This record gives sequence, C-alpha cells and structure tokens, in this order.
Amino acid sequence: MASSLFSRSEIVFGNQLAEESMAAKKLACEPLATQLTENDLTMPRRKRRSVIISLSYRMVWFSKNILGRKRMLSWCLNTSWLMRRFAFELSSEVFGDLFQREARALSEDVLQRWIPPGGSVLDIGCGPGRWSRLAAQYADSVVGIDQSEVNIKIARQMTTASNIKYVVGDVTQNVDRYHFDVAILVHVIEHIENVDRLLAAISNVASTLIIEVPDFEADPLNMARYALSCP
Ligand SMILES: C[S@@+](CC[C@H](N)C(=O)[O-])C[C@H]1O[C@@H](n2cnc3c(N)ncnc32)[C@H](O)[C@@H]1O
Repeated sequence: MASSLFSRSEIVFGNQLAEESMAAKKLACEPLATQLTENDLTMPRRKRRSVIISLSYRMVWFSKNILGRKRMLSWCLNTSWLMRRFAFELSSEVFGDLFQREARALSEDVLQRWIPPGGSVLDIGCGPGRWSRLAAQYADSVVGIDQSEVNIKIARQMTTASNIKYVVGDVTQNVDRYHFDVAILVHVIEHIENVDRLLAAISNVASTLIIEVPDFEADPLNMARYALSCP
C-alpha cells in the first residue's frame, strides 16, 4: 500500500516505455520472437549514478567476504528494517494524513460505501482523528474515542467539522452503552492486550464493524528474519 503513493508516475512512465518499444518493433514488420535480444529486455537506467551508493554497495559486498554471509545478512536485515521504519515515520511527518491514508487498506470510497445516509459512526482508537474527519463527510454524526489524551487533543485541534465529538476513554470498557451504524477500528486491535474482551465489548455497538490490522507478513524478507532470529 505504502508504495502506491510514490510509484504511480513510475508505473505510467514504465507503461509508456513499453508501448513505445512495442510500437517500434511493430514498425520493423518482422515477427517479434525472431528480433528480441537480451538488450531489448534490459530496462534503461532511471536512477542517477551516486558515488556514495556505489561505494556503499561495494563495501557491503566486500564485508560479506570478511564477516560471512549470515552475519552480513543479519546486518542488512536489521538496517533495512530500521531504514524502512525511519522512512515510514518521516513520510508521515512530511505528507501527514495523505501518507497515512495511503498506507492503510481502508479508503475513502470504502468508508463512504458502508456509511448509510444520515448514519452514525464510532471511530474506535481514533488517534489524531483522520478517519473521524473522513467519515464526518458522509455521516450525520461521528464519535472518536481514544485512551490517549494527547491524541484526542491533537484530533480536536485538527478538526473543524461540527458533527464530530472526541472522547478520551478505554474502548475495552466504555463503548457498549452506545449504538452506531458503523464502527471502525483501524490499526487498533494489535495494540489491545485482550482482543477477545474488546470484540465481545463492541459486538453490539454497531451494525457494521470495519476492522483493519497491519499485514506484518507483507515483507518477504521476514522469512529470512525469522530464520536468523532477527527481531
Ligand atoms: C496506531 S494508532 C491508530 C489511530 C487511528 N485509528 C489511525 O488509523 O490513524 C492506535 C490508537 O489506538 C489507541 N488505543 C490503543 N488501545 C486503546 C484502548 N484500550 N482504548 C482506546 N484507545 C486505544 C491508541 O491510543 C492509538 O491512538
């Protein structure tokens, strides 16, 4: 999901290149299979050459022979995890809500489809209120609840819509008294100690429950991380 924010232009560009290359081949009026060579399949370089990256790559390659493959792989896995984490946090700071929404599977379209006209929404673990604000465009009333006073303060500061109310509270204890058309839990249940208790507490809170959890298995390098016991 996260990559889609940045890869769109590259995808379009890639398609254009492919179309141009196909058109050139058609013009030659020869059967394609007989013309294709290894060079035809080589993608042109898009990134500018960087001396630092080149040197780093050679150093890592050289270190592999000194430290051994497994130790070097552990180092690479830890570094890539750390860099990805930094990149994620910095993207969040630089692009704010736009990035956070791209990084989630739930989209405005899906949210809109599930909110009935004149409906009510409960945003459980609302954080800074990004889904509450989005839902408020399609619902009559929205309540965002979060146990963090800091997050609720930020949510209030960032919100101008008058149909949203933010409440500080623990969702495992405080929500079963109310009823809403839709309840959303985006990236929340993985933070909850007793998920069964939470699900039991909220099972009657809304007619529709939208739950999203992060896909921790999305990175194929996790296989190597587990095998080498890299955290
Ligand atoms: C990763 S954030 C997600 C925020 C928001 N749903 C979003 O997608 O932007 C998880 C939020 O869940 C809240 N949270 C965790 N446990 C909670 C609980 N027991 N009661 C209320 N909020 C809780 C945290 O305070 C935090 O704001």
